[in-house]
Formats: sequence, structure tokens, C-alpha cells
Amino acid sequence: MAATDLDILASEGMRSLCLGGHVGFDSLPDQLVSKSVSQGFCFNILCVGETGIGKSTLMNTLFNTTFENEEASHYMDGVLLRPRTYDLQESSVDLKLTIVDTVGFGDQINKEESYKPIVDYIDTQFENYLQEELKIRRSLFNYHDTRIHVCLYFIAPTGHSLKSLDLVTMKKLDSKVNIIPIIAKADTISKSELHKFKIKVMSELVSNGVQIYQFPAEDEAIAEINSSMNAHLPFAVVGSSEEVKVGNKMVRARQYPWGVVQVENESHCDFVRLREMLIRVNMEDLREQTHARHYELYRRCKLEEMGFKDTDPDNEPFSLQETYEAKRKEFLGDLQHKEEGMRQMFVNRVKVTEAELKEKERELHDRFELLKRTHQEEKRSVEEKRRDLEEDMNSFNRRKVAAETLQGQAFQGSAQLSIKKDKDKKNFFTLPSACSLTAGRNLH
Ligand code: GTP
Ligand code: MG
Repeated sequence: MAATDLDILASEGMRSLCLGGHVGFDSLPDQLVSKSVSQGFCFNILCVGETGIGKSTLMNTLFNTTFENEEASHYMDGVLLRPRTYDLQESSVDLKLTIVDTVGFGDQINKEESYKPIVDYIDTQFENYLQEELKIRRSLFNYHDTRIHVCLYFIAPTGHSLKSLDLVTMKKLDSKVNIIPIIAKADTISKSELHKFKIKVMSELVSNGVQIYQFPAEDEAIAEINSSMNAHLPFAVVGSSEEVKVGNKMVRARQYPWGVVQVENESHCDFVRLREMLIRVNMEDLREQTHARHYELYRRCKLEEMGFKDTDPDNEPFSLQETYEAKRKEFLGDLQHKEEGMRQMFVNRVKVTEAELKEKERELHDRFELLKRTHQEEKRSVEEKRRDLEEDMNSFNRRKVAAETLQGQAFQGSAQLSIKKDKDKKNFFTLPSACSLTAGRNLH
């Protein structure tokens, strides 16, 4: 407003307001930045690599700090995923950093299942996020997002080729997470060997169809640096917790009898390139890719598995309500079908049991009849035997009576005879002459 206008307004007794600054929607990005800064950020790194390959040392070197570090033993039965979260602050920016370690990776004799716990862990984090999204009362604003944003895959500096464990694991992970392959302990391999090894690794990844994370080249501001960095993959890194004096500066390095390997020297290793790509240039893209590509894929598959679709068989849009109704109908139909099946099964079982019971009853009845018949026959034969015995007894009694009668008669006869003899004797003694006569007669 021109000064003359202000003067006119002032003379008319009207209040004039002065602007606090520039007015326009071009301040929207600033609003977004200040909101994001006040919210804080989270970043989750998964370190996949054999025991002792240098995972913890690299993390300490990357974030220039010393995180908790427990040495893993080589005697684990399986692979264990160990997440650790740290609250970091740089300037006024808060970062919730989660580092997930694969404890015991590559230590088992049978490594067939080694990728499984890693896949399960990644899926579990997706599932947790999906569950939060599906809640009626969501709190995604302050939800601690644990989805893995980047997987640093540590390749052993063998100079040969990738191990089958590496290929299998990366293949299983590539649709779930952004993989950045890195050659660990790159100071243990010569420059020319490293060059050949990098080419070999990349050609093996391509021939096995392993999709690794490509630094995006769409944004003009970072297209050049990202495309040139894509050509450096896999990064050959060196980690160190030591500081060595080089010139008049203390630098992170590994000191050997023949010289010093400087971690942050680009002609010694790719550590700086990795740090640039991972933290300075592409951290947000990694977070975005995780949400828009990997999580989206998980969510789509999961919802389709649950029966949700965007279009009906005629390619017409399908609303959530319709899907729900259709699913409900399908579920009720299924339930009815199952109920009918169960009822039928129950009836059949009852019939079978009834038939079995009837068969048993019949068997029992037959056995009873048989027993009854046997019993009657036995009874009859016992009766016959009893009758025979009775007859035997009767005839015995009859014979006994007859014998007794005979015995009695015989006894009577002999008694009379003895009485007569006694009488005769008496007469003999009373009539001596007669007796003697008789005796004389008997003697003759
Ligand atoms: P675990 O957690 O026990 O599986 O081991 P890790 O993979 O975390 O390895 P760590 O960082 O504990 O390093 C193991 C050994 O390798 C230590 O002696 C480190 O000093 C050494 N080391 C780490 N990084 C490098 C490297 O870049 N080059 C060389 N030569 N040695 C390294
Ligand atoms: Mg470790």
C-alpha cells in the first residue's frame, strides 16, 4: 500500500495493519519442514551378514558413535533378529534409529532356512503397520514405524563369487526391502581383485534376477550423483573404531604394518559413497520406497488374501461395503455348507453306530439263545441222570429190602434150629440113658 493511502486512512481514523512477512502459498514447504522436524524421523536399517563380518563396526563408523555391541557366538541353532533402537539428535533434528542385526547368520551347517527369520521379521513389521492402519482409531501420527527401510547386505571379500546363501537370501528379500549390497572388509582385497569382484557380483545378481535398490535418477538435483553412484555398486567398505593420526589430523582408519587404510578416503574405499547415498541423499527416498513399493505390495497381497478386491469380475469398481457384503454372504454360505456337512456326518455316524449296536444286539441275542438251548439240554440230561439214579436207588432199596427179608428169615430159621438144639441138649443131660443111646447111635 502506498504511503499516501496510509495517510488517507490515518486521516479517516482507520487502523492500518503491517504484514509480518511475505504472503503466499510458497511457504507451504517450510510449513511441511517445520512440522516434520517437530515430529522427528525414524530410520530402520537391517544388517544382514555372517558373524564377524564387520556389521557393528560399520554402523559405529557410519553414525560416528559406539552403539551397544555384543559379539555373536558361532554356535547358534538358527538366525536371530535383534533390533536395537537409539534416539539420535543432529542440530534440531531427532532421529529414531533402529539397527536390526542378524545374529548367527551363516553359522549353521544347514543354511537352507537361514533367510526365513529375516523374511518373517520384515513381514511382521509390515503386518504391525497394516493392523494399525486398519484400526478404527488409528494413531499413525505417533506410531513407531519399525518397517525396514534399507537392508545392508554384507558380502564377504572372497574375490571369488557370491555364495549361494547370499543369492538365495537376497532373492527372497528383494521384493520386501531395499537392498544395498556392500563388500565388507574391503581392505583385505587388492584393488584389481576388488574391481573384478564387483563386476562378478553385479553380473551374478543380474543373472539370478535379484533386484537391488537403484539410487533414483528422476530428480534433477540428485540425478547425476545417483547415477554415478549406481555404477559403484556394490560399495566396498572399511569400518574402524580406531582413530589414527594422518598428517596433523586424527582420522578413522585401520593401521597396518605397511600403511594406513583411511575409512573416509574415497581412493581407499567406498565408505564415504555409502554414507552419502544412505544418509545424505537418499534416506527419504528409501523411506518412501519402503512405504510406496514394498509395504504397498505386502498390503495388496494381504488384503487380496483376505478377499478384498478393487474391481468385480466385470471390471467394475467394487466398494468396500460391497466387498464386505459379498464376503459376508460367502462366509455365511460357507458356514451353512459346513453346518450341513457336519449334520450329514453326524446322521451318518449315528446310523453307523445304530447298525453296529443292532448287530451287537443280534449277536448277543444269538449267544443268549445258544446258551439257553445248551442249558436246557444240560438240564434235560441232568434230569435223565437223576431219574436213572432214582431208579437205581429204588432197585437198590428193593434189593436191600429183599436181602434184609431173606436175612431175617434165615436168622429166624437158624434161631429155631438152635432153640431145638438147646432143647435136645437139655433132654440129653436129663435122660442119660437116652442120651447115651443117642450118642451111642451117633457114634455108630
Ligand atoms: P557379530 O556381531 O559378532 O556377528 O560381528 P560383526 O559382524 O558385528 O563384526 P564386528 O563389527 O564385531 O567386527 C568383527 C571384527 O572384524 C573386529 O575385529 C573388527 O575390528 C573387524 N573389522 C570390522 N570391520 C573391518 C574392516 O572393514 N576391515 C577389517 N580388516 N576388519 C574389520
Ligand atoms: Mg555385531
